[in-house]
Amino acid sequence: PTTPLSISVIGCGYLGTVHAVAMAALGHDVVGIDVSDERIALLASGEAPFFEPGLPERLTAGLASGRLRFSTDIAVAATADLHFVCVGTPQSEGSDAADLRALFSATEVLIPHLRPGSVVAGKSTVPVGTAARLSGLVEGAGATLVWNPEFLREGRAIADSLSPDRIVVGVSAVEESGPSASAGSSGALNMLRRAYATMLELGTPLVVTDLPTAELVKGAANAYLATRISFMNAMADVAERAGADVVGLAEALGHDERIGPHYLRAGIGFGGGCLPKDIRAFAARATELGAAAPAALLAQVDEINLGQRARIVEAVAEHFGGSVVGRRVTVLGAAFKPESDDIRDSPAIDIARALHRLGSIVTLTDPAALPNVAGRYPELSLEASLDHALRDAECLVLATEWAEYRLLDPVRAGALVAGRTVFDGRNCLDREAWSAAGWKYRGIGRR
Ligand code: UDX
Repeated sequence: PTTPLSISVIGCGYLGTVHAVAMAALGHDVVGIDVSDERIALLASGEAPFFEPGLPERLTAGLASGRLRFSTDIAVAATADLHFVCVGTPQSEGSDAADLRALFSATEVLIPHLRPGSVVAGKSTVPVGTAARLSGLVEGAGATLVWNPEFLREGRAIADSLSPDRIVVGVSAVEESGPSASAGSSGALNMLRRAYATMLELGTPLVVTDLPTAELVKGAANAYLATRISFMNAMADVAERAGADVVGLAEALGHDERIGPHYLRAGIGFGGGCLPKDIRAFAARATELGAAAPAALLAQVDEINLGQRARIVEAVAEHFGGSVVGRRVTVLGAAFKPESDDIRDSPAIDIARALHRLGSIVTLTDPAALPNVAGRYPELSLEASLDHALRDAECLVLATEWAEYRLLDPVRAGALVAGRTVFDGRNCLDREAWSAAGWKYRGIGRR
């Protein structure tokens, strides 16, 4: 059984909210802190501020147990032994680099509340070298900084937090002979071991390393995942030209133990609040460090990814003889991926907007994300009912592979639309069934 720690989580965005709830679920006493009154009021009233399966239940349970609280007052963090810093590191305006202002200001306001022996664990995704800069500030207050990156995926965030593939902890002063860390660091490492005791007992691997390596693990993991997706989209391009099929190709590649089956789905590419901005920040940092090749590699990954969005728009135009003006196109999906209402850097939104700009009459539907679209892109015409969205469409573009679209009956859908053409931007429909129902099916990297 876990000996409960007193924990503060600073920054209650996606990462911080989920982490606070997960830590309380493990039995710790947790206070979540954020500068937004609105966000804290929502969380304190038990309402999840975004769509995430399992979060509402865990949040309610945490509040009811008395182990989870929320506050806008950083002073309440003073009693905590362990502080997780989870603030956002968005892309800077006008450059690819990460904007670290929130991270530094959160650390600075925390400093006066630190005690000797308390531990600050950075979880935000940062350019390598950031932790060393923060470490000086934290150590000045007699506390210790460790780096503990987080790998959660939206839509599976609770499961990813409670049963991660690995726990990475970077500490300062790891000697070359191994992790014989300084006194502060070994105390800090023990604190992290206590925080994650439940998972460690279940056999979750713990990787102890130095601060820059821990920072780099996160950047490298995202860069690798993004590269895999763009690689498959590059293969899809070749497959399409050669009359081959990228879905069969991915299946066969995935059986190779060295490759593995995940993250090989070709389509309209990756989006979301993390991968796109993180690979840009990674490239920007590599350039700063004088490493030109990694920056060039990731620039190419980004370019291939954005190219997928442009290509499907071109394919739709081609289908209509070169112009989409006045054509009724329905885009299925607005979220950057299913089981999420997040539309940050969503390929679906980009495609819908591009078609609209070209003069198409676009209807956009999504089971969860429409409220977020309405607030941000008033030019898009939204339809919550799938049947209404299908009615009279001259062509469908499947942009997010929600189950209700994957399992859509092509015969029923065919009776509603005006034109039976479907662009399957996620290669997730049963091509044979759709073709048999009289649809013209176009996938990505497929014959
Ligand atoms: C990602 C990382 O997976 C996670 O570890 C990190 O902490 C944050 O960034 P997330 O943004 O939630 O998580 O989404 P993820 O499930 O990784 O998908 C990212 C994008 O890639 C989505 O737009 C998805 O549609 C796309 N994708 C994924 C593909 O196009 N093909 C694939 O094979 C897999």
